[in-house]
Amino acid sequence: MSEQITGNEIIDAELAQLSSLNEVNIEPAKLMEHLGNAVNSTSISKTAFLEYMHESIAPVSLFFTRYKCALMEIETKFRVLDEEFSLQHDRNPINSIKCRLKKIPSIKEKMERKGIPISISAIEENLNDVAGVRVTCSFPEDVYNLADALLKQDDITLIEKKDYIQNPKENGYRSLHLIVAVPIFLHSEKRSMKVEIQLRTIAMDYWSVLEYELYYKKRDNAEIETELKKYA
Ligand code: GTP
Ligand code: MG
Repeated sequence: MSEQITGNEIIDAELAQLSSLNEVNIEPAKLMEHLGNAVNSTSISKTAFLEYMHESIAPVSLFFTRYKCALMEIETKFRVLDEEFSLQHDRNPINSIKCRLKKIPSIKEKMERKGIPISISAIEENLNDVAGVRVTCSFPEDVYNLADALLKQDDITLIEKKDYIQNPKENGYRSLHLIVAVPIFLHSEKRSMKVEIQLRTIAMDYWSVLEYELYYKKRDNAEIETELKKYA
């Protein structure tokens, strides 16, 4: 999770990534090329090609849109709690809220690591962190207050809680992790979506971002691991 991602950026990112999941290349230049060939060829009409494109992309777009909506719900809940708290205490417990959707290559990598064949339903079932929210606070009390207030809400179901603040990881990582289910209401369906929430203080966040760059992302890199151990 790096920068805050807006709705349009999520859609753009997802379009850029669709190609790898569907094995349909939709980069504009390539699309024009395909389209040109398709129109010129006798085997497929322009309409048929566009229909094909639409059909391949629609389920993936819907998949990401649902998670994006779940992120919007959770983000709003935190913003509401922050607003209320600041009214009562004249300060904001939340320093930042960052939302991210897991990128398709990361989804693929994690599914492969778990040895699960990739399909949209298998991803929904097996990955808890397609949608991620990271909340940073000034103080550890704020972390717990916010988590409690969120979990008390009657549309939130706690699936898993890992308290790496009370019990830091061996490497020093500290954060409160929640996997929750939140309902989203679409035009004609209500759907329960899983969201991974990481809450921590600004200090814990500062450390974890550095550590993530150095180690976590490169956990398969034995060389870096040895280097890090040397400095530990
Ligand atoms: P993943 O398979 O990596 O998602 O881990 P997990 O399913 O065992 O869940 P866990 O709650 O331990 O970690 C979830 C997420 O927290 C990770 O994807 C990271 O974003 C973050 N995280 C966990 N451990 C560390 C760590 O040691 N350092 C850093 N920087 N981030 C971590
Ligand atoms: Mg993860």
